[in-house]
This record gives sequence, structure tokens and C-alpha cells, in this order.
Amino acid sequence: MKDSIIFRKEQFYFRKIIEEDLEPLRIMHNDSSTIRMLTDTTQVSVAMQKKWFMSLDDSSKSRRYSICMYEDGKEILLGMMRLDQIDKLNKNMLVGLDIMPKFRGKGYGKASFRLMLDYCFSELDMHKVTLYTAVYNKVAIGLYTSLGFKEEGVLKEHLLREDGYHDLLVMSLFRDAYLC
Ligand SMILES: CC(C)(COP(=O)(O)OP(=O)(O)OC[C@H]1O[C@@H](n2cnc3c(N)ncnc32)[C@H](O)[C@@H]1OP(=O)(O)O)[C@@H](O)C(=O)NCCC(=O)NCCS
Repeated sequence: MKDSIIFRKEQFYFRKIIEEDLEPLRIMHNDSSTIRMLTDTTQVSVAMQKKWFMSLDDSSKSRRYSICMYEDGKEILLGMMRLDQIDKLNKNMLVGLDIMPKFRGKGYGKASFRLMLDYCFSELDMHKVTLYTAVYNKVAIGLYTSLGFKEEGVLKEHLLREDGYHDLLVMSLFRDAYLC
């Protein structure tokens, strides 16, 4: 497991996704509290998850990692992070992460986000990190604002949910604002 760790800070780290992560990550993704917050609301089957796993290394601009922590010498899988549209020339990218329902509201989302941002700015040398969030995702917006993200724009009526169309917020954080 140690060999697959990409980045670590104190007890939190992220590593390559392994086969035994697939089912817990699929359950987290399909949970209504998660899927409602995502752009793609397709329920993922076991077969779809397996296919997705096999294609993880196909793109040089996107990466998916398992977020974990060590507790009492054991690894706990907390969730998954997404790095997309990694643009090394213009030094910007998109990020996102989901925490498993049972671990939410305990500060792990914030710790995981800090870990991911440290990696983006210090290791990938990004100038700017951007994310998208549904306007009704108050927990996520609270988290992003507390980390210094600022609203950059709104994609009007960009998400279609059972109760109608909703706006998608674009929020960004610059390297200097994060590292100062
Ligand atoms: C959004 C998410 C990643 C946050 O992770 P978390 O572990 O629940 O959040 P934390 O416990 O670290 O709290 C971080 C901040 O979120 C906000 N927050 C957390 N729980 C909250 C709640 N119930 N109500 C309002 N704000 C809340 C607070 O601003 C908090 O910061 P503070 O502790 O400094 O006040 C997680 O809830 C999640 O995965 N949700 C479902 C999927 C999702 O929304 N993904 C993001 C898509 S854009």
C-alpha cells in the first residue's frame, strides 16, 4: 500500500485506487446525498465501476485517487478526489472530492481538501484551482469559502434535478491566496 501513496500530510494521504476500494466508492457515489451534488447523476453498476477502474490511467489530464487516513495503525478509506483538466501550460485545473456519508461533518472534508490543494499548488505547481458546485450545496460552499475560494461566475440552470433546473457556481482559488 505504501508504494501507491501519492501525497501525505500527517495522518491524511491519497493513493491510487485499488480494487478493494471499488465497492465502497460505488456505494458512496450512488448514495442520494452524494449523487444529487454531482453533475452526472447516473447510478453506477458493478460492471460500470469495473470498466471505469480499468480506464483510470487512460487520461493524462484527469486523475482519481482514494483519500485515506491512518488511525490506530489501520487505513480508513474516507472518499475519493478528482483532478481534471490539468493544464500544465496555463497552470490551472479543476478539482473535486466526495467524503463517505458516515465520515462527513467531522472535519475530514476540510483536511482532505487541504491535502489536495497542497498537492495542486506545491507539487503540480498550479497558479489557480477551480471547482464547480451546485448552488444548493451549502455544506460544500461553506467549506470552499472557508478555504479561500471565491465565486468566479454562475452557469445558469446548468443542472437538471427532479425539482427542476439549478445554477452551477464556478469558484476559484489562486496559489498566492492559499499559500499566504
Ligand atoms: C462537501 C463535503 C466534501 C464536505 O466534507 P465534510 O467532511 O462533510 O466537511 P467538514 O466536516 O470537513 O466541514 C468543512 C466545512 O464544511 C461546512 N460544513 C460541514 N458540515 C456542515 C453542515 N452540516 N452545514 C453547513 N456547513 C457545514 C463548514 O463550513 C465546515 O467548516 P468549519 O468546520 O470550519 O466550520 C462532504 O460533505 C461531501 O462529500 N458531501 C457530498 C458530496 C459533495 O457535496 N461533494 C462535493 C461536490 S461539489
